[in-house]
Amino acid sequence: MKALVLSGGTGTRLRPFSYSMPKQLIPVANKPVLEHVLRNIAELGVTEIGVIVGDWLTEIDRVVGDGSRFGVRITYIQQDKPRGLAHCVALARPFLGDDDFVMYLGDNMLPEGIGAVAEDFRAARPAAQVVVHKVPDPRAFGVAETAADGTVLRLVEKPAHPRSDLALIGVYFFTPAVHEAVAAIAPSARGELEITDAIQWLVEHGAPVRASEYTGYWKDTGRTEDVLECNRKLLGDLAPRVAGEVDEASELIGQVVVEAGARVVRSRIEGPVVIGADTVVEDSDVGPYTSLGRGCLLRATRLSDSIVMDGASISGIPGLHGSLIGRSAVVGPSEHVASHHRLVVGDHTRVEVAA
Ligand code: TTP
Repeated sequence: MKALVLSGGTGTRLRPFSYSMPKQLIPVANKPVLEHVLRNIAELGVTEIGVIVGDWLTEIDRVVGDGSRFGVRITYIQQDKPRGLAHCVALARPFLGDDDFVMYLGDNMLPEGIGAVAEDFRAARPAAQVVVHKVPDPRAFGVAETAADGTVLRLVEKPAHPRSDLALIGVYFFTPAVHEAVAAIAPSARGELEITDAIQWLVEHGAPVRASEYTGYWKDTGRTEDVLECNRKLLGDLAPRVAGEVDEASELIGQVVVEAGARVVRSRIEGPVVIGADTVVEDSDVGPYTSLGRGCLLRATRLSDSIVMDGASISGIPGLHGSLIGRSAVVGPSEHVASHHRLVVGDHTRVEVAA
């Protein structure tokens, strides 16, 4: 079995971050989402992974490279623009050949792993095995209507009146039968080749399509709120480890990771918190649920429930919460007028200040 990871797309909902990086490289618990995805696939014993990329090939290659770090071999496949999930399958056909494959959206997190679903697929080898998850409001999803034995009777994209609460999430298993379906469908109203249309085509042509329910934690990291929530979830499972320096005037409480080269000085860290390599935290109060990337500087700041990306610096801020701070961003007191806020804020940035 091979794998196809979808790491293109525009990431409109993750602006401004998606202006300067692919959303699949946003760090969750200090590791890019894409790295979590690749490790999840490697756990299945799958080693041949095709990765669909858009404009960010160089950046993605720089971070995950040829995949050897995860014990897999990556083949990059470039998509000129986001033409839909089924278009990715068509584009990857030369890579996929006539092998079975798992298709995994590169911004989806299923930290409990997909081993059980892979076993279901390997046992029965239906033309398509979709992964479904019970959601309170399925109207924003593709929804599967299933028989008691897991056979998919119908798929409906974003139904106004859903007949089940089983939403399709970002993992699909296919035999090569899917290629005929992909070749047969036409672009949808939004101009994309939809994978739900291809799977519905299989259902209508009598091919076996099954659903497996994933009951673990799942998150599509499409929006900043999702990224922060997922960060909270993953940090909750953190094993404490201190490789960097913590001075005697500092206090670490609960699950705290201090990576090599990081320094904690006169600070209170309340886990779960991860402090990346070469980051300095001074006179600050950090956590819970916070990850600081590599080479950051935090001084005289109180920060919780946040993600700070590599190289960012924050100083003199008494209460930052639920924040996502981009790479090399600088947040601090005004050097000019003490009574004013001074902002240099990029497109589609969101700043919320206490009144
Ligand atoms: P989406 O999150 O549906 O699309 P997007 O990245 O364009 O995000 P937004 O709606 O915020 O603009 O895509 C799901 C995943 O599939 C994501 O990892 C991007 C990837 N993808 C491709 O690689 N190629 C495509 O043609 C599409 C539509 C998505």
